Amino acid sequence: MVHGVERQKLVVGNWKMNGTRESVLKLLYSLQAGISTVPRTIQVVVLPSFVYLEETERRLKSTSIAWGAQNVHAADSGAFTGEVSAPMLRAFGCTYVLVGHSERRRYNQGSGEGIAEKFQAAIRAELRPILCVGETCEERQAGETLPIIYKQLDEVLGKVGIASFEKAVIAYEPVWAIGTGLAAAPQPVGAVITAIRDFLSKKDKTIAEKVGLLYGGSITRHEASELFKLPQVDGGLVGGASLNAAEFLDIARSF
Ligand code: PGA
Repeated sequence: MVHGVERQKLVVGNWKMNGTRESVLKLLYSLQAGISTVPRTIQVVVLPSFVYLEETERRLKSTSIAWGAQNVHAADSGAFTGEVSAPMLRAFGCTYVLVGHSERRRYNQGSGEGIAEKFQAAIRAELRPILCVGETCEERQAGETLPIIYKQLDEVLGKVGIASFEKAVIAYEPVWAIGTGLAAAPQPVGAVITAIRDFLSKKDKTIAEKVGLLYGGSITRHEASELFKLPQVDGGLVGGASLNAAEFLDIARSF
């Protein structure tokens, strides 16, 4: 490790397209009430649906919890019906945004170039992009985990350059582990995370040491403590389990 680089520990909740107005209010209230039990060294982040961002800001602005969005458009404004821009997210207090989540790559034709443009838009607006990478089950069986991840990283690096990664976070999310209840085992996760950092180091060692590297895919309170013991892992991206405040805070505390 480059001397003096202390990376932030991050536990991020991706709420996806979940929650009613009432359930989201309850969740925000419980997080607000419980966050003081999580050590301040761990940054907790929630990513609600766009429509709940205003309420999220209202409830969380006086807490240490940060929030962000699950997607962003590449342009800052314009005739893009139904889209939301990075400056709009900033105006609602967002500090993070997911880019290239596998569900968007799959259902919304997220091309490598489009993902790179979203990443760039986030950086322009001073949002921290959380770039998601990971292999499918078939790619894993074919032994292509690392080549696929390097390709996904190169698609963004080739457009934005390594300097733009200084404030970025990368989440290793094997597609086969998302929402399946089959979290990846800690040791292989550690190996992939190390490979990602080595890959970035070849472009710029100092920046590579600053990038937060998370794991995501079926994290529950049971997996979290083993996962967070790995020194390579800076945190987790939690889907399903983040909809339950008690479990999500347990996960954060297990760091
Ligand atoms: P999961 O989702 O924890 O429900 O598997 C993770 C994610 O998609 O970010």
